[in-house]
Amino acid sequence: MDTGLPAPLTSRMAEVQGQVSAALDATLDLQPPGELTDAMRYACEGGKRIRAFLVLESAQLHGVPDAAALPVAEAVEMLHAYSLIHDDLPAIDNDDLRRGRPTCHVRFDEATAILAGDALQSLAFERLADPAIGGAEARVELVRRFAQAVGARGMVWGQMQDIAAETAASPLSLDQIVALQDGKTGALIGFAATAGAVIAQADPAPLGEYARNLGLAFQIADDILDVTGTQETTGKRVGKDAAAGKATFVSRMGLDRARTEAQAMVDRAEAALEVYQAAGGQTRAAENLRQLARFVIHRQT
Ligand code: IPE
Ligand code: IPE
Ligand code: MG
Ligand code: MG
Ligand code: MG
Repeated sequence: MDTGLPAPLTSRMAEVQGQVSAALDATLDLQPPGELTDAMRYACEGGKRIRAFLVLESAQLHGVPDAAALPVAEAVEMLHAYSLIHDDLPAIDNDDLRRGRPTCHVRFDEATAILAGDALQSLAFERLADPAIGGAEARVELVRRFAQAVGARGMVWGQMQDIAAETAASPLSLDQIVALQDGKTGALIGFAATAGAVIAQADPAPLGEYARNLGLAFQIADDILDVTGTQETTGKRVGKDAAAGKATFVSRMGLDRARTEAQAMVDRAEAALEVYQAAGGQTRAAENLRQLARFVIHRQT
């Protein structure tokens, strides 16, 4: 498929997809085999692996090799897979299609899907303890930041706001929508994009600024695709957000203004990378991260 993406970005994304999928395959070869591990593997298959890409490129940016960053990339993709399993459950978004296939609870059953999500979350934390990542201090800092990003101050909090907004008496303000999306989508993306700096014990602030804007733009693009995309290209049912009464940039300001906002965020994300490009050195990684920011709002999948 012609994605319109620059060739170096496409080939690096393909390389990351291959590396992280192989690593996940090995990690998820759990004993004893059975429905639980089958469901965990199933939920981890496919996906764009954007969060893994952020981990590996933020690592490259700081001179950290792929081999050290890979367990972190696995952790992020397993956590993401768990969040999608639970997001798709009847009690949350009630979706039956994910990555072009039946959702985990449809393919298996609800109880197995819930438990597969739970198990993926704890396995994700186990991966962050891998000595291949680096010294104990860096690993403890990764665990602390990961826990903050994915729990009651991050992803889970955002998901709770997302559900509450469906039945809120009045529409959420823009600030409330931003906070919701910072949580449900931005927090894990923020962890992923700063992971390389944390492993290298460098300042994560510029990558944090990049990720904040990228995460918001990414969720706006997801919300736009729910209106303008197709089931074939997205691999998900479309048109569900309006039907469910979701609070999004699109519901708040319409498609055109949502697109303009997302573009402004991508511009800010790119600007946050200038400090790395000015410093020279790992310019390929900085350029890839810049191109990725552009990709997230032009993607069809
Ligand atoms: C989907 O994320 C869920 C959101 C946070 C919008 P992705 O679009 O990254 O999903 P996959 O991993 O590529 O399937
Ligand atoms: C999902 O957001 C965010 C998380 C899973 C944390 P959405 O509900 O918009 O994602 P899709 O559209 O189902 O992929
Ligand atoms: Mg949802
Ligand atoms: Mg959903
Ligand atoms: Mg969505």
